[in-house]
Amino acid sequence: MAMMHRFHICEGKVTYSSCFLRSDSYVCNSEKNRIVVSEFGTLAMPDPCKNIFARFFSRFQIPSTSEATDNASVNFVKYKGDYYVSTETNYMRRIDPQSLETKEKVDWSQYIAVNSATAHPHYDRDGATYNMGNSYGKSGFFYNIICVPPPEEKAATENSADLSGAKVICSIRAAEPRKPSYYHSFVMSENYIVFVEQPLKLDLLKFMLYRIQGKSFHKVMTWEPQYETIFHLVNRHTGKVLKYRTAPMFTLHQINAFEDNGFLVMDMCCGDDGEVIGDFTLENLRSDSGEEMDKFYNSLCRNLPRRYVLPLNVDEQTPLDQNLVTLHNYTATAKQTKPAEVYMTHEELHNDELLQYGGLEFPQINYDKYNGRPYRYFYCCGFGHVFSDSLLKMDVHTKELKVWRYPGLYPSEPVFVASPEATEEDDGVVLSVIITPREEKSTFLLVLDAKTFTELGRAEVPVNIPYGTHGVFNEMG
Ligand SMILES: [Fe+2]
Repeated sequence: MAMMHRFHICEGKVTYSSCFLRSDSYVCNSEKNRIVVSEFGTLAMPDPCKNIFARFFSRFQIPSTSEATDNASVNFVKYKGDYYVSTETNYMRRIDPQSLETKEKVDWSQYIAVNSATAHPHYDRDGATYNMGNSYGKSGFFYNIICVPPPEEKAATENSADLSGAKVICSIRAAEPRKPSYYHSFVMSENYIVFVEQPLKLDLLKFMLYRIQGKSFHKVMTWEPQYETIFHLVNRHTGKVLKYRTAPMFTLHQINAFEDNGFLVMDMCCGDDGEVIGDFTLENLRSDSGEEMDKFYNSLCRNLPRRYVLPLNVDEQTPLDQNLVTLHNYTATAKQTKPAEVYMTHEELHNDELLQYGGLEFPQINYDKYNGRPYRYFYCCGFGHVFSDSLLKMDVHTKELKVWRYPGLYPSEPVFVASPEATEEDDGVVLSVIITPREEKSTFLLVLDAKTFTELGRAEVPVNIPYGTHGVFNEMG
């Protein structure tokens, strides 16, 4: 169940509070004192109050409709100036970021024709929020790009969830109508959005069958490397889409994208084998932790940073079978193999030094100033273990690393906070929540100098808190 954590930093003091999200799923499970609402990877035991026929009908539904969970355990997101917590279904929950109080449940499909939205929206500098969501019906399965406008002037008394004015700016038809791709995030530059259609597929027929049989949802997600990866480049202003292809690859979190003299440069965390997603199971976590299992855990997350360079001006005059990436500072390639088909290869965005820290995930940048623009640094977690066991700072110009790592300490996603008068990209701090299984040590909020990656301070919390996923910094008035 989603638990929200809050570190309140004020005049040199840090206060910690936490609270379970009072979702309908939480209330329902609490009343029954067991899990009765199915989640991704978690199968609810059937409700004994429902007979076998009722069970059949309640399960026989397309995903992400009325039965979808509102256990929003993935991220804090912002729409029209309000904070919500989000997972990947059609439901979000508005929350009060000061008190962590749970507010209304919001159903995306009440505002716009989509049945889900990711937990990783993007924000433009005018206050609009962009996200992606699925829709399916008689005409097929679509990936939709959504835009929620900036906040209007609200009346002082008005205090409710509001996604009005949301619109779909582009719908992309799934390459395989019965096997749409899973996606977790996307990138946005100043003029473009790039959606990656990867060979990690959802089998819709299996999904319906498993619903009837009561099997866990994650088993309907399959790695199908017989399909190529398709990058859909969408013009944010016109909705026009261009397609690019590359070898099968698996990605969850994208880092950043920017335009450079007729090219779009896109950085993300990738792996060659999407099979690993099926290995993150409770059975595996609970099994014997001998040397073999240690090896198994340590090999799970091997995603590494990559750069792709997409030529923006491809037309009938563009030559075939010739590398179109002519800018000297990139080694990624893109060739038009036949008219209107561009095939890309990537550049590794790291050197061998990174490999000793395992895979890399949870990338963060100086978002407010550098998202969608040329940038130099990202911060992330190194995964030498099934949980991240280091914090890393990567210079994408030199591929040099800065590292924070201590045995037995497991950091959460690093959150960059710029200094109030910052002039340089890395002028600020990096915040991360560190957990440890060691009894003599406690959980703490770590503050690193973003420039040097040296410690500025730790705020210890005398309670055990669970391993977190994503976090945000919010400056209170
Ligand atoms: Fe995520």
